[in-house]
Amino acid sequence: MIEMKGINKGYLLGEEKLPILKNIDFTVEKGEYVAILGPSGSGKTTLMNILGCMDEMDSGEYFLDGMAIHETGQHALTKVRNEKIGFIFQNYQLIPTYNVMQNIIMPLLMRGMSHQEAQEQCRKTIELLGLEHRINHRPSELSGGQKQRVSIARALVGSPAILLADEPTGALDQSSGRDVLKLFRELNEMGNTIVMITHDLNVAKSARRIVRIVDGRLYENEP
Ligand SMILES: Nc1ncnc2c1ncn2[C@@H]1O[C@H](COP(=O)(O)OP(=O)(O)O)[C@@H](O)[C@H]1O
Ligand SMILES: [Mg+2]
Repeated sequence: MIEMKGINKGYLLGEEKLPILKNIDFTVEKGEYVAILGPSGSGKTTLMNILGCMDEMDSGEYFLDGMAIHETGQHALTKVRNEKIGFIFQNYQLIPTYNVMQNIIMPLLMRGMSHQEAQEQCRKTIELLGLEHRINHRPSELSGGQKQRVSIARALVGSPAILLADEPTGALDQSSGRDVLKLFRELNEMGNTIVMITHDLNVAKSARRIVRIVDGRLYENEP
């Protein structure tokens, strides 16, 4: 599902390039649930942005669901992000003026689907996440755990090839965090491929496989 080979990424610091990701090889098979574990500043978000086709790599090859991302232009990548990736963020990134239903169907509307069709297609996802009684609420009327469930519904609604989560429990209390991790396990058991980024070993342990990132290098086992 994901195959990265020799990925390098740096940021310009004045005239010099500061290396951040160093020669990363990373493979994820369909149906896997992988955690990328690393301390603050290790390059997790930089890697997430490349995995999510939101940022370009300096060198290396990245195949996502059979597509050569390193050879794909910006315009086509917008479509790839919309169709192949379900994003879940620490701070939910819901649109505050939209209600739950409107937030969830956003990715479908972006594909050009009609409102009516989108509302029909999202019904199963809304039921799966137990949000039936919340569809008319605004994000500000929901708890953190509920907001994260809405964002997970939005990530799932378009049947993406992978779910990509950056610190999905980072803003939640312990109990809601546990609920989200339990949900991820269930979604994985239903066949969803999940890559979760975290700095917290206890969170990472709920995935089926852990890789570590330290100072921009990726390790399958203990570094
Ligand atoms: N846009 C940027 N310009 C320059 N340096 C950056 C930029 N984004 C991140 N960095 C640096 O890259 C390193 C890795 O950052 P990041 O990927 O956000 O790490 P993490 O998510 O693991 O905390 C940090 O040292 C950070 O300061
Ligand atoms: Mg980060």
